[in-house]
Amino acid sequence: TQYDFGMIGLGVMGRNLLLNMADHGFSVIGFDKDQSKNEALEQSATPGTTVKGVQDLEQMIGLLQTPRKIMMLVPAGKPVDDVIESLLPLLDTDDVIIDGGNSHHTDTLRRVEYLQDKGIQFMGMGVSGGEQGARFGPSMMPGGNAAAYDLVRPMLEAIAAKVDGTACVDYLGKKGAGHYVKMVHNGIEYAIMQLISESYSLLKHGGLDNDQLHEVFKEWNEGKLQSFLIEITTEIFLQNDDKGSGRLLDVISDKAGSKGTGKWTSQDAMELPVAVPVIDAAVAMRTISSYKEERTTASTMYPDPYKSSPASTQEWINQVQDALYFGTILSYAQGLAMLAQASIEMQMDIPLPKVVDVWRGGCIIRSSLLEVFGKAFAKSPTLSNILLDQELADIVNSTVVNTRKVVSQAALSGISTSALMASLAYFDAYRSEKMPTNLVQAQRDFFGAHTYQRTDISGSFHTEWGK
Ligand code: 6PG
Repeated sequence: TQYDFGMIGLGVMGRNLLLNMADHGFSVIGFDKDQSKNEALEQSATPGTTVKGVQDLEQMIGLLQTPRKIMMLVPAGKPVDDVIESLLPLLDTDDVIIDGGNSHHTDTLRRVEYLQDKGIQFMGMGVSGGEQGARFGPSMMPGGNAAAYDLVRPMLEAIAAKVDGTACVDYLGKKGAGHYVKMVHNGIEYAIMQLISESYSLLKHGGLDNDQLHEVFKEWNEGKLQSFLIEITTEIFLQNDDKGSGRLLDVISDKAGSKGTGKWTSQDAMELPVAVPVIDAAVAMRTISSYKEERTTASTMYPDPYKSSPASTQEWINQVQDALYFGTILSYAQGLAMLAQASIEMQMDIPLPKVVDVWRGGCIIRSSLLEVFGKAFAKSPTLSNILLDQELADIVNSTVVNTRKVVSQAALSGISTSALMASLAYFDAYRSEKMPTNLVQAQRDFFGAHTYQRTDISGSFHTEWGK
């Protein structure tokens, strides 16, 4: 048999993507040094599909139809370079390599250029949706060589999540665009997860128990907040601890882990620069979550300000719902603005309308809001910030009063709501025709002769201050 598609690395993601492809009628072959993974792949194949696992890379390469289509799902960093080096002597011109892991976009750019010189088509592709997504329909964000995309397109479209019959995969730009878009996806993911955890904390403060939280989130998931992350949170509140201590959530340590993609988003945003303070706040909160000992000590030194309870529980729930909606919109707005800016700076030609389309299904940040953003980009494909869309402005304006109430109440009660506050602070600056940064300019010129511009006369000015 000549196989349609090859996979290097048969961990959970690699295996599930291959099985998904086989279910859609493609013959697939996987390579892993670990024979037990090859066996696991073949054993989990749907009867009647063509699935093979081999322990010899050269054997796999020899069994693939040319031009070969190969994806790798190995840990980001050196393992990706090692795989590329081991493939090079075995490949022919025009073969396609896709890196489907969470690689840093600068590494992807370097690899695209390196392999271009050798006649190999390389693509960096973000894959979202976890294990279930990979098996039954992920969202995929490929970028890099456009001709390579055309070759693998039928396969990727077959396995992708579908929304209204449209596959959640599309060519998202040149160079490292695929991994860039996935990185920003994860930044938004961090921001929304942090906002949801703050909402959980606010509602607990309002007296809700896990059962009530479940009911509230269930209702939210049927309304404007409908999203994958709200949906799974709904279930989390009900999960019982199999060790018998009641609800599992209540015994989970508050130290949050991270693999680094959220941090990359913040770092890159600083570099551009573009402001993504909600994502920054989310990254910082995961870091503070690790200061368990210090927090425990500090909690005895700095007691809660005073117990200030919201007026009525139902009113509080409604206000928190609006605040979460507001914060979520601001998270997407900042992430999408970052993509718009990065696309220009790094000449990636990222098509924003397609990005929001690809995010509609399969990925972690899929939500009904993406339909609203889709409409905004349909009107104006190069919108620098979705907050400038009038329809979105109407939505934001309708939720901001409740957001202010929640933020005030949180501040008075000493409830940490860093991401929510960051979203409101960004919003209030963004909607300011005049910011107080004229004073910063004056100070810079005062102590450092950094000069300033005037509002009435053009040019650069310096003043001998105090004279
Ligand atoms: C996805 C996720 C996925 C993974 C994150 C987790 O889109 O399917 O983003 O890629 O869950 O990398 O990131 P942290 O471990 O940093 O939270």
